[in-house]
Amino acid sequence: MALTTAGTQPSLGEVAGIPLPATTVDNWPQIQGFKAQSDDLLICTYPKSGTTWIQEIVDLIGQSGDVDKCQRAAIQHRHPFLEWARPPQPSGVEKAGAMPRPRVLRTHLPAQLLPPSFWESNCKFLYVARNAKDCLVSYYHFQRMNRTLPDPGTWDQYFETFISGKVAWGSWFEHVRGWWELRDSVRMLFLFYEDIKRNPKQEIQKVMKFMGKNLDGAMLDTIVQETTFEKMKANPMTNRSTAPKTVLDQSISPFMRKGIVGDWKNHFTVAQNERFDEIYRQKMKGTSINFCTEL
Ligand code: A3P
Repeated sequence: MALTTAGTQPSLGEVAGIPLPATTVDNWPQIQGFKAQSDDLLICTYPKSGTTWIQEIVDLIGQSGDVDKCQRAAIQHRHPFLEWARPPQPSGVEKAGAMPRPRVLRTHLPAQLLPPSFWESNCKFLYVARNAKDCLVSYYHFQRMNRTLPDPGTWDQYFETFISGKVAWGSWFEHVRGWWELRDSVRMLFLFYEDIKRNPKQEIQKVMKFMGKNLDGAMLDTIVQETTFEKMKANPMTNRSTAPKTVLDQSISPFMRKGIVGDWKNHFTVAQNERFDEIYRQKMKGTSINFCTEL
């Protein structure tokens, strides 16, 4: 069912009540049939939670801090995006199928929509969560410049759309809750964007350990330096400047926009903040997860 059809706007479809890009919905049988392997590492995020950041960290760890090797391809092409489908380009599933093992893959799917083989294969999951307010702000600006997603409308309109979960990949609240609740029953490292920002070295060390790598202090320092916001914004292999303007129009808003904790304060009105806090309390009731919204 198309949720958004205005003009030439790209539409969203739905799978089990979760809005997803229509092209992903069209490819759903292939996605659900995906065969995960036990040595796969799946990077899982709600959109705008620092996916690109953790991808670069994981790649640098995998390449033992060799910066040149991480220049081999743009970040969006290094780790297949599982549910990506835009014919005639090869789909995420096809790219993953053609990739040598061990594979690093990425997804924005909520846990309940993940292809069953991921649970059966006992592979590793690396989830990165970002506080809801900054996610909302980042997603708003992303939808302004991303031609494959619906136009977000005004800030006030988008605030409502996000709260109601009628954005691609669904409700932030359900996504984060769903993955958080699984963290002890599968092989999962659950990280927070805000922690990586506050103490990158410590969080990168956790990733390194989780990946079974043991890099020396100098390599670790290189990875910390190479994955700062400023470095990644200037790096053509991470800043998405290779994506055509017809897909990402960075003259409207850069992909590497601000990369901070607390930008929501520049967007939320006092009334919106109070309302958001109340909705957050209701929707996250009973969960033990704790976010920080300022550093
Ligand atoms: P902002 O829009 O708030 O700047 P994703 O990769 O999941 O789409 O997330 C994009 C968000 O992560 C953007 O947030 C982007 O600037 C931020 N980001 C990317 N690389 C980063 C880095 N090295 N440090 C901090 N934030 C980063």
